[in-house]
Amino acid sequence: MSLMRLAYASEATFEAKPVEKGVEPHVARILMTSRKNNARGKLVGGLYYGNNRFFQYLEGDEDEVRKTYDRILQDDRHRNVVTLIEEPVADRTFSNWSMKYVPLSRDVQRFLESQGLQRFEPASFTSAQCEQMIELIRNSSHDQKLVNHDEARTVRETPQAFSPGLKAGLIVAGLCLLGALFFAGSML
Ligand SMILES: Cc1cc2nc3c(=O)[nH]c(=O)nc-3n(C[C@H](O)[C@H](O)[C@H](O)COP(=O)(O)O)c2cc1C
Repeated sequence: MSLMRLAYASEATFEAKPVEKGVEPHVARILMTSRKNNARGKLVGGLYYGNNRFFQYLEGDEDEVRKTYDRILQDDRHRNVVTLIEEPVADRTFSNWSMKYVPLSRDVQRFLESQGLQRFEPASFTSAQCEQMIELIRNSSHDQKLVNHDEARTVRETPQAFSPGLKAGLIVAGLCLLGALFFAGSML
């Protein structure tokens, strides 16, 4: 039995809906089918979804990978599918996962920044960038703890009501006021 790996990029055709439990609802349905089918076919891999784009990596028995990819190519939930990697592999490099899901999380964001990329546009990835994305999927634990890209940004960018400096200033001012009140009280 020969093994192969495959990666592609595509554009979602659906209008993204609000995230439910960390996953966009259309993507949640795709994941449900993928996990069921891929587990049966002993396929492993990962799916990135962000900026209305998909990046998917599949690894397993060549016949299974090709059969699955043929189905994926026919799917009208995405378009402009670009095959990025399609080659034999000696061994499996993923374990225990039928289909990891990694939303555009902070580590993907950091990866994009490190490459000077403004947006998640996987169709234009170089082969080195594809390998880095696959490495991110391999090392990701996000399937257990889904982090939505937009939520991550919200947390990072939410302004604090009081900055630490202002807090310290208010405490000192409060103490001075108390001192002044005691002093005034003792003068009476
Ligand atoms: C971006 C994307 C990724 C997909 N990935 C997989 C996959 O890894 N495995 C799979 O079986 N189906 C995948 N699908 C779904 C297939 O296109 C197809 O709907 C499904 O395999 C049909 O399975 P069913 O006959 O069990 O309903 C994907 C679809 C999209 C749009």
